[in-house]
Amino acid sequence: MRRPPAIRWLLYTALLSGHEAHEGAHCSGHGVTSKENNFECTCFSGWKGPNCGVKACPRGRAWADYASDTDEAHAYDVECSGVGYCNEDGQCECREGVFEGPACEKLACPTSLDGTICSGHGQCVTSGWAASHWDGRNLLRPHVEYPHWDAEKISGCLCDRGFSGFNCSRVDCPRGDVPETRGQKNEIVRLECGASKGTFTLTYKGSITEPIPYDAPYGLVKARLQALPDIGEVDVRFLRGQESVCSAQKTETEIEFLTDFGSLPALKVQSLSLEGSVFLITRQRLRCPRGSCHQARGRGPSNCTGGFYLGYDGQFTSKIAWNATKEYVEKALSALSTFNEDSDYGPLHVNVTGSNTVCNYDEKYYMNSTEEYDYLNAQNVTIDIRGKYGNVYNLTLLNSLWRVDSYTNPGYAYKEKVNLTLEASKGTKENAYCSERGWCDFATGTCMCNKLDTGSLQYDYKSSNGYGEPGNRGDCGYPAIEARGCPAGRIGDKWVQCGGKDRGHCDNATLICQCNADHYGADCMLQTCPYGPSWWGEARGSGEGHDLAECSNMGECERNSGLCDCREGFGGKACEKLLCPVDGDAQYCSGHGLCLPMWRAAEETTLSGEPRGLTYGAATQQSPATWDSRRIYTCHCDSRDGFQPADGPVMWVSGVHTANDDFVGGWTGYDCSLRRCPFGDDPRTDDDVSEIQTVRCSLPGKDTFTVSFRGDTSRPISANATDAQIKWALENMTTLQEVHVSINPGERACQTRWDGNDWRHGSSGFNVTFISQVGDVPLLTTSPPSNVTETVKGTKENLECGRQGYCDHESGLCRCLKGFVGSDGDGNPGRRRDCGRIDPQGFTLNLWDE
Ligand SMILES: *[C@@H]1O[C@H](CO)[C@@H](O)[C@H](O)[C@H]1NC(C)=O
Ligand SMILES: *[C@@H]1O[C@H](CO)[C@@H](O)[C@H](O)[C@H]1NC(C)=O
Ligand SMILES: *[C@@H]1O[C@H](CO)[C@@H](O)[C@H](O)[C@H]1NC(C)=O
Ligand SMILES: *[C@@H]1O[C@H](CO)[C@@H](O)[C@H](O)[C@H]1NC(C)=O
Ligand SMILES: *[C@@H]1O[C@H](CO)[C@@H](O)[C@H](O)[C@H]1NC(C)=O
Ligand SMILES: *[C@@H]1O[C@H](CO)[C@@H](O)[C@H](O)[C@H]1NC(C)=O
Ligand SMILES: *[C@@H]1O[C@H](CO)[C@@H](O)[C@H](O)[C@H]1NC(C)=O
Ligand SMILES: *[C@@H]1O[C@H](CO)[C@@H](O)[C@H](O)[C@H]1NC(C)=O
Ligand SMILES: *[C@@H]1O[C@H](CO)[C@@H](O)[C@H](O)[C@H]1NC(C)=O
Ligand SMILES: *[C@@H]1O[C@H](CO)[C@@H](O)[C@H](O)[C@H]1NC(C)=O
Ligand SMILES: *[C@@H]1O[C@H](CO)[C@@H](O)[C@H](O)[C@H]1NC(C)=O
Ligand SMILES: *[C@@H]1O[C@H](CO)[C@@H](O)[C@H](O)[C@H]1NC(C)=O
Repeated sequence: MRRPPAIRWLLYTALLSGHEAHEGAHCSGHGVTSKENNFECTCFSGWKGPNCGVKACPRGRAWADYASDTDEAHAYDVECSGVGYCNEDGQCECREGVFEGPACEKLACPTSLDGTICSGHGQCVTSGWAASHWDGRNLLRPHVEYPHWDAEKISGCLCDRGFSGFNCSRVDCPRGDVPETRGQKNEIVRLECGASKGTFTLTYKGSITEPIPYDAPYGLVKARLQALPDIGEVDVRFLRGQESVCSAQKTETEIEFLTDFGSLPALKVQSLSLEGSVFLITRQRLRCPRGSCHQARGRGPSNCTGGFYLGYDGQFTSKIAWNATKEYVEKALSALSTFNEDSDYGPLHVNVTGSNTVCNYDEKYYMNSTEEYDYLNAQNVTIDIRGKYGNVYNLTLLNSLWRVDSYTNPGYAYKEKVNLTLEASKGTKENAYCSERGWCDFATGTCMCNKLDTGSLQYDYKSSNGYGEPGNRGDCGYPAIEARGCPAGRIGDKWVQCGGKDRGHCDNATLICQCNADHYGADCMLQTCPYGPSWWGEARGSGEGHDLAECSNMGECERNSGLCDCREGFGGKACEKLLCPVDGDAQYCSGHGLCLPMWRAAEETTLSGEPRGLTYGAATQQSPATWDSRRIYTCHCDSRDGFQPADGPVMWVSGVHTANDDFVGGWTGYDCSLRRCPFGDDPRTDDDVSEIQTVRCSLPGKDTFTVSFRGDTSRPISANATDAQIKWALENMTTLQEVHVSINPGERACQTRWDGNDWRHGSSGFNVTFISQVGDVPLLTTSPPSNVTETVKGTKENLECGRQGYCDHESGLCRCLKGFVGSDGDGNPGRRRDCGRIDPQGFTLNLWDE
């Protein structure tokens, strides 16, 4: 019998009065209670548990969990971030070797065995930090944001100058130009300055020059720049005949990088006290070949159709017509939002100068001229991008410009693509380790230059000055003899150019080996490791991170085998997966669960034991926010959530006590190594009722039906079953356990009356009262389908140990607080070890020492 609430309260408060009668005193001194909230403890920070009896651990955003909504996971405020266990001292014991921080909230930077972070040659920073900083060397985008869940959780190494690799363990070798390739350019940046007082600075690859005065002669500008550690030599030219770098009239200065080759990162100008303006200019030239859209007189002007698009940092202009003016081009480009102040190097201003139009013939000129029209030079416009940063991104050209010639074949329009070109002032020389003519020993950072003489193959490379002559760069850019053949690798007892067909092939014109995808190096003899989306790095654009990286930035590449040696906890060919914890027997999830990627775990998300139909990272696999949906794996423990209450080690099967070695409660914890305890109703809350569902089946004559609940299905039940028979069948389902079944007198499961020969089908239905399953449970289903309705909604809590005990995760037993014992799930004596009954004698089964 259920006691009236008032009496239960009396008993409870009487029980308390023994030792800690007054309000607030019974929360172990680490919390407060009040009558208003049913004497439930509200623990002070740092404490937890039904009576605030144990220390709480720091909390963080979950590393891996079930989705809370579509594409939403990584809950906030999870103890030990869901990857550690909270010990008695209130400290997280994090999954070893993988997570760290007070709340296991961080994935640390690569650390050597002796505890050195980033091999002692780098700075450990998070993706969020990397996104919001710029140094022009490792971090190239000044204005990106990385707002996703992992922004402050995953850290990586920003290597110091001269070091590289995911853990900064590689010593970089000198880089240089390939001596056999010709006609390449150095990078040039322009500086425009209109000022007659003050100083400014330039920043290049993370270093800032000493202040440069407005009236500095070119020698001083050059000296200031060359004092920077990464710049090498530069040439400084004053283009407008000016005497100093700035003057009242705007000046233009060209800086050419003489020894730093290739496409260089952006540099930045900062005015310190300049009275006037200073800008850097990135120049590009758009060129239409001579005679493209015009023709010799007498044959009539030809015509172009179509147009082109210009893009900057992923955004494109609308179509620019073949005969658009330069003003139009300037307007179209200026409208791109990628040039505004929120953009990477913004704000940037575009100016277009040069020919009046990009590709058009000048009709007026045509009308007047008597000459052939080859006076028309190649048309070209100069596009200057002006801002605080120089050497910003290249523009991209999408060309769909056609020349139409209806004269040559009258009546037949001949169409030909016009070769519009866009030329950047970017450096085009190779900037390869050891000039692509040697092998870099990353342990010491020295180039081992190629040298060979087999008669047919001949070369001997040495350190150069960057221009194919002897020098002390330390690269291999000086060919001491004229080379014959590409760098060769030794295969068996033979030297084979570029390591043979399997590894690469020789480009005879440049003598550069074109290596196949999985090989690299001057002679293609080294193996690359698989690439995967990096775990950490600078965001590519706002919110977009995880660029491809060798071994996903989470492991070392074994050069000889081409296999990634992943950091502990990570796996997959390219270390692209964060795997489930493995126990001593090499079993995932302690052998008590499935190891699922986040997207699969999301599918397993249930509410009251029923699937919620949630997905994570399914809508668009490329969604940057759910980048981890196929990469982070988590344990889905064998558990009986909703199958509760679990009687603990004894299970109730068809009315018989049966040993339950597997524990109905199942397993829990990030590695499924903890036993779950029985769940049940909090006996101190009064107005709780068990759920009642009414099943109205209508089956002809002698048929049977089955009942399903939370994935389990009963054996066939006869249409003429009695309440006891239905009960036995239902209680044999592990998902249901104890139920009450009631049928109106004279009726059977699906039948009303005996007409003398047979039972007539159709009844007022039978009621199922859920005893073991507390709370609002999902509807039963039957086969064939019946009308099932929720007659009384269950309102009992489904709490671990009824919120009146602590779970001993080793045994899976509740240790009830003083004054609470097991129950029948309804506040009365029973088999459930769920602390679900107030014990009037103060007798306790499993006493938790307070
Ligand atoms: C140019 O082409 C258009 C149609 O494509 C035509 O109407 C026009 O007459 C052409 N102009 C010349 C000068 O050929
Ligand atoms: C460009 O050519 C089109 C015909 O192809 C003409 O309608 C338009 O007026 C021309 N625009 C300019 C700016 O010359
Ligand atoms: C560059 O273009 C802007 C408009 O975008 C204009 O105000 C400015 O005068 C131009 N500067 C030069 C040097 O042409
Ligand atoms: C660019 O065009 C101008 C005339 O508009 C011409 O004088 C110059 O030679 C051209 N430059 C190139 C590199 O084609
Ligand atoms: C073409 O001739 C007209 C008149 O004959 C003249 O006004 C115009 O300036 C000339 N155009 C050019 C580009 O010479
Ligand atoms: C355009 O360039 C391609 C290759 O760069 C060349 O094959 C083609 O002949 C060129 N077309 C014209 C019209 O110059
Ligand atoms: C920019 O263009 C140059 C050639 O004009 C090219 O070598 C370089 O790779 C380009 N850079 C980018 C980032 O596209
Ligand atoms: C390069 O030269 C080798 C021999 O010198 C020849 O066998 C090969 O066909 C050439 N390759 C190309 C692409 O010309
Ligand atoms: C119930 O139906 C079964 C067959 O489905 C029959 O064997 C049994 O005798 C019936 N019981 C009663 C009490 O009618
Ligand atoms: C109870 O269920 C078990 C397995 O779930 C089954 O083996 C057994 O036959 C069932 N007992 C009855 C009486 O249906
Ligand atoms: C089922 O439960 C409802 C609500 O408690 C009750 O009204 C109804 O009479 C019950 N029916 C049977 C068959 O016990
Ligand atoms: C199920 O039974 C209830 C109560 O008799 C009734 O209100 C409801 O309409 C029925 N539902 C269906 C789908 O037959």
